[in-house]
Amino acid sequence: MTDLKHLRKDFPIFSRLIGGRPVIYLDTAATSLKPVRVGEAMLSFHRQFPANINRGVCRLSEEASRAFGSARENIASFINSPSASQVIFTQNTTQSINIVASSLPRLAGDRKTIILTEMEHHSNLLPWMNLAGAGFKIKKIPVTPEYSLDMEKYRSMIDRDVAMVSVTHVSNVLGMINPVKEIIGIAHDKGAIVMVDAAQSAPHIPLDVVDMGCDFLAFSAHKMLGPTGVGVLYGKKELLEALSPPAFGGGMVTAVSDEEVVYNKLPQRLEAGTPAVESVLGFSAAADYLREIGFEAIRDHQQALLSVIYEKLPGIPGVKAYLPPDPGMNTGMALFSLSGLEPHELSLILDRQANICMRSGMHCAQPLVSSLCPGGLCRVSMYLYNTVEEIEIFLDVLKKVSHDLG
Ligand code: ALA
Repeated sequence: MTDLKHLRKDFPIFSRLIGGRPVIYLDTAATSLKPVRVGEAMLSFHRQFPANINRGVCRLSEEASRAFGSARENIASFINSPSASQVIFTQNTTQSINIVASSLPRLAGDRKTIILTEMEHHSNLLPWMNLAGAGFKIKKIPVTPEYSLDMEKYRSMIDRDVAMVSVTHVSNVLGMINPVKEIIGIAHDKGAIVMVDAAQSAPHIPLDVVDMGCDFLAFSAHKMLGPTGVGVLYGKKELLEALSPPAFGGGMVTAVSDEEVVYNKLPQRLEAGTPAVESVLGFSAAADYLREIGFEAIRDHQQALLSVIYEKLPGIPGVKAYLPPDPGMNTGMALFSLSGLEPHELSLILDRQANICMRSGMHCAQPLVSSLCPGGLCRVSMYLYNTVEEIEIFLDVLKKVSHDLG
């Protein structure tokens, strides 16, 4: 096991005691913890060059603009984007997907089908459902009993009416990694555009948009050790240029008169208004932090945590676990129920008894979760800062709750 215990000192929450006990944070899929370094990068903006970017000639503004530009370059290299101008800063994954969805009518030509999967988060479902009024219909790739995508069914669904295939790289409830490269190849053979929701993969899997071949990719800083308030929309240049700007205002134009508006080039054309400068700086620091640890070490560590979960969780009396059979395809999540308790009741008990943070309910993926269990489920999601000891405590507390229920 790659022991990443030494990293815990970078996350101040682990030194906080609640009721005399430390916090056991098993809710990274909702939002990750943030290392001190990310906060420091954000503070550098407040302390050293707190000026607006790309708008002023004073030195502070130049410094801030340079820092912002370097952060964009850094995030571009994090996903191997061919150029920094193809990295559009948005609020989050949700906004990135919405931007593309609202332009689909102009990108689609005569095509009227959108293919999603049965395991989408609402962020990659509702923006497309909202296009029903524009004549689009949705088809979903089924999820098999092993929690993988039914690729045979997908092959039979795709034809030249498909405008868009938008799929999650990693399920936010199962942790399951989907074969996005294969999905993209099949879609491109029929001329469809492909969008990848990388919100849950960015923290775990090295992203390479060139190798993947996606047309659009969306992810958020806050899931990958960065701050809230900033996400990315990556796209192929000609497709980004074809999008309607999500907002109109300052910074996105080079000239305006009563007669004419001359839009700026990418990325500014799609980034009207003052951006979340300090969040972008924190985002870049988070990417550096992940690079230094390395995705291989993160994966090894996750697999060690998962091996404890796979060995012990399903055997706890009353527990039903919904685990992808191959832990190697799981990025560190475990979905489960305990008979006799509603998911929120169990979550509350674990929090009050042992400071265990986990998510319960429909996980913003109601079509999938309610098909597995109509009343909702509990989810623990682990990351590089969790330890085997924490997982053992979680399992022991769960066992005790189960035992007390009789
Ligand atoms: N998408 C986040 C989750 O799965 C909020 O919890």
